[in-house]
Amino acid sequence: MAVLKLLSVLFLSAQLCAGHRGRGSRTGAEFGKRKKVTYEPQAVFRVFSPEVDMEDTCTVKLFQQQTLQSCGFNSSHPLVIITHGWSMDGLIENWVTKLATALKSSQKDINVLYTDWRTLAHQHYPIAAQNTRIVGRDLAMLLMWLEDFIQVPVSKVHLIGYSLGAHISGFAGSNLAMSGKTLGRITGLDPAGPLFEGMSASDRLSPDDARFVDAIHTFTQQHMGLSVGIKQPVAHFDFYPNGGSSQPGCQLHVKNLYAHLSQYGLMVYHFQFRIQLFTQIERIDPSLSITLTGTQGESETLPIVLEEEISGNRSYSFLITQDRDIGDLMMLYISWEDVPLWANMWSRMKTIMPWRNKDNEPQLTVGRIRVKAGETQQKTGFCAQSEDSASIHPAEQKLFVRCDENPLRSRRVTSRRRHQHAPE
Ligand SMILES: *[C@@H]1O[C@H](CO)[C@@H](O)[C@H](O)[C@H]1NC(C)=O
Ligand SMILES: *[C@@H]1O[C@H](CO)[C@@H](O)[C@H](O)[C@H]1NC(C)=O
Repeated sequence: MAVLKLLSVLFLSAQLCAGHRGRGSRTGAEFGKRKKVTYEPQAVFRVFSPEVDMEDTCTVKLFQQQTLQSCGFNSSHPLVIITHGWSMDGLIENWVTKLATALKSSQKDINVLYTDWRTLAHQHYPIAAQNTRIVGRDLAMLLMWLEDFIQVPVSKVHLIGYSLGAHISGFAGSNLAMSGKTLGRITGLDPAGPLFEGMSASDRLSPDDARFVDAIHTFTQQHMGLSVGIKQPVAHFDFYPNGGSSQPGCQLHVKNLYAHLSQYGLMVYHFQFRIQLFTQIERIDPSLSITLTGTQGESETLPIVLEEEISGNRSYSFLITQDRDIGDLMMLYISWEDVPLWANMWSRMKTIMPWRNKDNEPQLTVGRIRVKAGETQQKTGFCAQSEDSASIHPAEQKLFVRCDENPLRSRRVTSRRRHQHAPE
């Protein structure tokens, strides 16, 4: 039983009696209230402060609440925890300070912690790789304590891990999941490949480790090739900024991370879209944008970023993020921005090519639109108002409203639920 297995590992020293079978959510609270807990994390948790050198930053001691106060931790602020990777020299790497500084300056009211596991990371790679589980557990313990004692919900915590640190963040998330808690977000930056590539989801960073997992694969070949990034997708959204080829030079990954975080924010509400598009043109790269209307508000007009050009009749995925909750999606507008340059090219092409289409304009036909909301994991479909209104031309905007994709199935689910809640 997963819960008991976690208990035996985590609370061995706390001597929980064997007959006690609390549910995950309760046990977390119980251990928090215990006076004497002897769990000794091997990692050190540092609270970043812009004025202080990273080596000298204040450290938080598990179960010692006063260390939070003396480190200036504010429980009403969001929490981001940065975790480093394999260490060649046992020093704190530059990018950690840079990233922490960038986070602090972009959002003043934020707690930035740093998981310092250098004693376990400054080892031969396979040993450091094995140690990621230990550090993941340490991190999970810290977060459980923070939630139960300091009222910092783990669902609002964002872990950012580089290389082996990405897997540590994943193990922290899976440890929490075993206690019935769901971590908010993990951003994996070049999650390490060796000893993790091809492993099962429980043995590496994976989408079930947090409500939202994103990974950036830049393949910066640092550390003599041993910190080479994992190639397989490991997240809800995997970004391959340079198409997945290897990148020469160093520190590029930090720049990528800045760009990524400024595009996708820190604390995000997100929607995963899958949209079917059909075009008669061989290849097209239109600039599309979307506006969402939810039960609690409306989004700005946001660009739709597809991984590739549109061709034929296919489905494409994209991600839309928001820094506030707009509730359940009710309708959306998709628009095709008319880029003058493109229009010019189009008229030139028309003169060169005998176009077979009756319409003298390019058009996109929108088929199925499916959306999964990150907060609720709820899946919904959106439909055009009529067959005609499913086609978009340049400089046009079309409305799509929420519709039941599979009315029969969802009706059945609803009636089953009703039975559960109100037994006759
Ligand atoms: C924590 O932050 C809140 C809101 O930013 C502020 O009102 C409060 O005074 C802060 N608490 C401490 C102990 O600094
Ligand atoms: C595109 O493919 C889907 C099936 O995947 C089909 O239902 C739809 O009619 C096709 N659209 C066009 C315009 O051919």
